Amino acid sequence: MCGIVGYTGKKKPINILVDGLRALEYRGYDSAGVAFWSNPSIKTVKRAGRLNNLVSALQGIEDKPGYAAIGHTRWATHGAPNDLNAHPHSDCTGNIFLVHNGIVENYKTLKEELQKAGHKFYSETDTEVISHLIEEEIKNNPLYSAKRSILNSINKLQGAFALLIMVKSEPEKLFAVRNFSPLVLGINGNDDEYIVASDPTPIARHTRQIIYMNDGDMAIISPKGYEFVDFKHNSLKKDIAQIDWDIEEAQRGGHAHFSAKEIFEQPDVIENVLRGRLIPEEGMAKLGGLETVREKLRGIKRFVITACGTAGFAAEVGEYMFEEYGGVPVEVELASEFRYRKPILDPETAVIFISQSGETADTIAALRESKEKGALTLGIVNVVGSSIARETHAGVYTHAGPEISVASYKAFTAQLTALVLYAMLLGRQRQMSMTMGKRIAEELKNIPQLMRQVLKQSDKVKEIAQKYKDFNNFLYIGRKYNYPIAYEGALKMKEVSYAHAEGYSSAEMKHGPIAMIDENFPTVAIIPKDSVYEKNFSNLQEIKARSGPIIAIATEGDEDIKYITEDVIYIPKTLEMLTPLLTIVPLQLFAYHSGVLRGRDVDRPRNLAKSVTVE
Ligand code: AGP
Ligand code: GLU
Repeated sequence: MCGIVGYTGKKKPINILVDGLRALEYRGYDSAGVAFWSNPSIKTVKRAGRLNNLVSALQGIEDKPGYAAIGHTRWATHGAPNDLNAHPHSDCTGNIFLVHNGIVENYKTLKEELQKAGHKFYSETDTEVISHLIEEEIKNNPLYSAKRSILNSINKLQGAFALLIMVKSEPEKLFAVRNFSPLVLGINGNDDEYIVASDPTPIARHTRQIIYMNDGDMAIISPKGYEFVDFKHNSLKKDIAQIDWDIEEAQRGGHAHFSAKEIFEQPDVIENVLRGRLIPEEGMAKLGGLETVREKLRGIKRFVITACGTAGFAAEVGEYMFEEYGGVPVEVELASEFRYRKPILDPETAVIFISQSGETADTIAALRESKEKGALTLGIVNVVGSSIARETHAGVYTHAGPEISVASYKAFTAQLTALVLYAMLLGRQRQMSMTMGKRIAEELKNIPQLMRQVLKQSDKVKEIAQKYKDFNNFLYIGRKYNYPIAYEGALKMKEVSYAHAEGYSSAEMKHGPIAMIDENFPTVAIIPKDSVYEKNFSNLQEIKARSGPIIAIATEGDEDIKYITEDVIYIPKTLEMLTPLLTIVPLQLFAYHSGVLRGRDVDRPRNLAKSVTVE
């Protein structure tokens, strides 16, 4: 995601835009830019890096009051973070300028058509397509108003887009479009000024009057007022609300912490990871970032998946997925160990590197070692243009947006989703039938909604956390796909609440750890109705027999679990391979609520760094 802001009114716009972008930097910060009226045309200034680079470039620039202006702070999805790919983006003629939050799924097709029509592109972004699309619409229908040309153009887009558009012919106007990316309009009618932004933070310092735009809305705004239409050109009436958040709260989406915001935005994140990457009718995954190596993947005989920390546990889940559905031999290695061993790699081996930051020192070292040995290196990375993203032969971005919380929540479920897509692609190249592929695709599309159902139990998880807030030792157990989830759930508890928590295989518990169990040593058990449910149930009976308290993550409808414990969080039914996407959510909430109840700095736990760039 990124932050977009626009202004039109009687004041000079640049300082207002810069303040707004500073408030939105938490949404993305790899590059920034503005576009504003500078008679006789629209001028843009944009820079890679943090916002201050743009501020330095704007020194001494004169802007005029009474005209529209737009700004963008980027979190790249398509095209590395550099000056050229930074927003605003324009058309061939310099008549149209726009900023975009989201992903244009069909940008490749549109770009090819526009290039055939003679349009020259300068950036690698999906966004730039939109400005040329509007230009082409105006060229083919010179009598249409800008409003109509813009509406006709956006109806050709597929994907998520919040847009702020300026046209040279009407420089006092802003055209604001919302479709699956947030956009709000601040109204300061007394001063005839309007501010549009990705969230209320840039607006709250100017006015508390706000209109929350809906998907399918377009607003045409000038210092004289505004009007709303839908994408079918019908006029819309919108109610004015009051901003009742302070700035900080608005950045956290109304949540008390970024951790909570990022736990609760996971359904949207999964939708972003999947956007444009499933072909349900063929039961296929379409991973643009692997196109260049797609045929080479057919010949890969063995996979290694390597990462650190939470990403390492995602890799462990991926091992089960790749074996069962990808139909390939796979092993998982901790990057910090892999890099010092003598791994047997060759051109028929592919090594996958999972990393949110793309800058983890041990993972980078493992990557360089793997390339030395001739392996095909692939990425699953969140930060576009990061070292691991640049140095792997190919890869998939997780589009989770910036993860502010040091403890990783949404990046983890985004990594799991990317691994499912990898397993589908590999499987369909090998033994997976179209029927199975279709089944996975259908189930995967349901996950965001199922996750929302689990998140509704947050208060119940908080009650359980309250009950256990004085315990300082926890055993987390699971099997198969949920064995690594036991480890990730325990890691969350450790790093957010500072309580000791140990992940373990349910089966292995009786080979030692059960000695710890008594009424003071609770067990968190992940026991969905899957192929190992009965085995897990027996393990829980062994714990109960020793008075060990149990917190269970179970499948809706499982009444038997209530004979074991009353502390049950239910998840909806789904494919066994997809259960980790749901079972991890109560564990994330349990760690978060436990940390808050224990007075921890849950967004920035002590001793931790967001990206471990040292060894
Ligand atoms: C996750 O909660 C931790 N903050 C940490 O384990 C993290 O997952 C690990 O450092 C790997 O980081 P990366 O994904 O950026 O490579
Ligand atoms: N897809 C656009 C780009 O990569 C916008 C990304 C965003 O929303 O941050 O520039």
